[in-house]
Amino acid sequence: MIIALNNKCNLTKDEFLTYQQDLEKISTTHKLILCPSLVHLSNFNLNNCSLGSQNVSKNASGAHTGEISANQLKSCSVEYCIVGHSERREECKETSEETNLKIKNLFKEQIIPILCVGESLKEREAGIEKEVLREELTLAIKDLSEEEKEKLIIAYEPIWSIGTGIIPTIEQIKDVFIFIKEILPTSKILYGGSANETNIMELKKCELIDGYLLGGLSLKPQKLEEFLEKLEN
Ligand code: PGA
Repeated sequence: MIIALNNKCNLTKDEFLTYQQDLEKISTTHKLILCPSLVHLSNFNLNNCSLGSQNVSKNASGAHTGEISANQLKSCSVEYCIVGHSERREECKETSEETNLKIKNLFKEQIIPILCVGESLKEREAGIEKEVLREELTLAIKDLSEEEKEKLIIAYEPIWSIGTGIIPTIEQIKDVFIFIKEILPTSKILYGGSANETNIMELKKCELIDGYLLGGLSLKPQKLEEFLEKLEN
């Protein structure tokens, strides 16, 4: 399975070095992708993880203060990049059209995008989660080749689940995964939102899940190890 670790806006330089020492001890058959804060990309030094970024510029290069381009990421050995995370959609007003540009820039540099999609609680309660997902997906994958669509990784992250300790039911996850597969039959689909070392026993029951995008848990190496062990057995 693919296990992407989204550190979000956490860890100072020294903390990141200690964190890497802890992660280094983890041995797993799963594919780990570490997505640290952008400032730590050049300090990445692990053999048991691939490197991912949490963001990329929608522009290829040039006068865009504070942005980081796909080719700059490539030069730091980044292999994966999260795009369209709900926190960026919310806090930075990132649109699906911008996400689409980011995805195209990433593919030009052979970096695999991890596209986050998910509905809010209000949208779920209104029963329009599939409409929301359809729009997020179709706009983000516009003009991609079949080969690119196949490589693209999707992370289904219901916004009401992120950092709340609440996870959807297995039926709700299955329902959404089947829906996503109608649009992108060959993409790998991760689940993200409060996944942890306890609820993994429940989440494991959903055989459609190809992996997980972990936020809070990514910052706790011991609990992460427990999560991975439970996933394996
Ligand atoms: P969480 O975050 O695991 O802390 O809920 C997941 C994410 O936002 O990617």
